[in-house]
Amino acid sequence: MKAVLLNGITPASEVTLSEVTMPETMPGWVLIKVKAFGMNHSEQILRLHEIENDYIQKPLIPGIECAGEVVQTSGSHFQKGQKVIALMGGMGRSFNGSYAEYALLPVHHVFAVNTSLSWKELAAVPETYFTAWGSLFECLDIKKDDVLLIRGATCTLGYVAIQIAKAIGCKVIATTHRKSKLPLLADADEAVLDTGKLEGMVHGITKALELVGPKTLHDTLCCIEKGGIACNTGVLGGVYALNGFDPVKFIPNGVYLTSFYSNWPSQKIIDEIFSFIKEHKLTPCIGATFGFTNIKEACMALDNSGVNGKIVVEI
Ligand SMILES: NC(=O)c1ccc[n+]([C@@H]2O[C@H](COP(=O)([O-])OP(=O)(O)OC[C@H]3O[C@@H](n4cnc5c(N)ncnc54)[C@H](OP(=O)(O)O)[C@@H]3O)[C@@H](O)[C@H]2O)c1
Repeated sequence: MKAVLLNGITPASEVTLSEVTMPETMPGWVLIKVKAFGMNHSEQILRLHEIENDYIQKPLIPGIECAGEVVQTSGSHFQKGQKVIALMGGMGRSFNGSYAEYALLPVHHVFAVNTSLSWKELAAVPETYFTAWGSLFECLDIKKDDVLLIRGATCTLGYVAIQIAKAIGCKVIATTHRKSKLPLLADADEAVLDTGKLEGMVHGITKALELVGPKTLHDTLCCIEKGGIACNTGVLGGVYALNGFDPVKFIPNGVYLTSFYSNWPSQKIIDEIFSFIKEHKLTPCIGATFGFTNIKEACMALDNSGVNGKIVVEI
């Protein structure tokens, strides 16, 4: 089969397809014919930096999510030909992922989907919607009356979080660090230019989704009303940890801090997400589509940050 195989740090311009042996099925793992996959900021981080770490198996087929059909069920509850999605749980890091014609994946990270979305649309859903869903409902406990700040909203996750929050009736204030991108936040109630300090510029915030990450988290916490919650989900600012974290000085009185990690999807939540998409007639947020033979161009588009929305690769 054809796949992308990484051995070390690989700039997008050097990404190619290799001929790779088909994975052999084993109990607890199902073989999926990949129809399309979405690309993620975390795959860029993996390819350009993280791959050097010992905990990454090499050579590695990257890709943390996909949509496809079950080819071999390995005695699982799936049926041959069943439409599924898969994401996370070490996919494309601890074991081979989705940048391939076929992927052998652990049964507990493969989920049945009942949807009329096309393969392309379906591929834009798993990681982005699961993360937006978990951040908004599990972590921020978002309700219709909330005023939600989304910091760093000009990324796929930001656009989808706006979509979901508006669907339940929240007021959404979304930020971007580029003036030229303010029009991309037209679906929010307010689009705000983020110059690094939002405290005093935004008002009435009860919940905040932090996508820029530790770089701006303290300022985000300072924007929130007493009793409100901030969820740190993204790391777009390139700062991954809070060194010298002093909770007393860092977290304002009566404000709550949480975070979301998309590593543990479940069939129940995936079902809820697809029902929500159907009920609210949401259109998956696709920014660009590439064929598998153009994987180099797809990776270049990811690294150049020029695409607004999910980059989807169709096989
Ligand atoms: N916690 C989790 O489990 C989880 C799961 C999924 C994603 N994430 C994280 O969530 C974030 C968004 O992911 P994604 O896949 O939706 O990203 P993406 O669609 O690949 O978006 C990347 C875009 O973010 C924009 N961006 C916005 N604000 C930025 C800032 N302050 N600094 C740098 N870039 C900024 C960049 O464009 P401009 O600079 O032109 O605005 C860039 O094009 C990433 O940090 C990702 O790692 C976390």
